[in-house]
Amino acid sequence: MSIKPINSVLFVCLGNICRSPLAEGVFRIVWAERGRGRDMLLDSAGTGGWHAGEQPDRRSIAVAATHGVDISGQRARKVRPEDFSRFDLILGMDRANVRDLKALASPAARGRVHLYLDFATGNAADVPDPYYDGAEAFASVYRMIREASEALAKRLEASASLSSGQASSTI
Ligand code: 4NP
Repeated sequence: MSIKPINSVLFVCLGNICRSPLAEGVFRIVWAERGRGRDMLLDSAGTGGWHAGEQPDRRSIAVAATHGVDISGQRARKVRPEDFSRFDLILGMDRANVRDLKALASPAARGRVHLYLDFATGNAADVPDPYYDGAEAFASVYRMIREASEALAKRLEASASLSSGQASSTI
């Protein structure tokens, strides 16, 4: 059986200023902490383009900074058609994002689109949009993303070792 390795991940939400910049920034750190780093292309985008060119929301920047993660250098952008060929894995933060992404994807690329928490942890839940909420909502989103990032890293490592033919058993 041949399994295609995952070498690139795009994190997607609606505005690309609250959730997906956190998902990208936290995963980048978690992946690097596991001794990985430049072997994975990581980016984030929004299904909407209202905030294109902007920094992440100041509340996302703040909650990330509290945990030592700097996402202030990111800039929002809208999902582009070429993302569906460029990225092996496209993770929507909520079901509406997944529905919108699948509508944009060609039939061949649709299988690359997944619900973020479902793919990472097996729990088919949304990362709720915190945009109209307060700091506690951003803290809660951060916690969900931190936990999911660890699970996602484990899953991607497992897929990398399977696809390179390394034994993944525990003997
Ligand atoms: P995000 O949050 O999708 O997590 O970036 C939002 C940001 C902006 C808007 C909605 C959600 N907005 O409507 O402008």
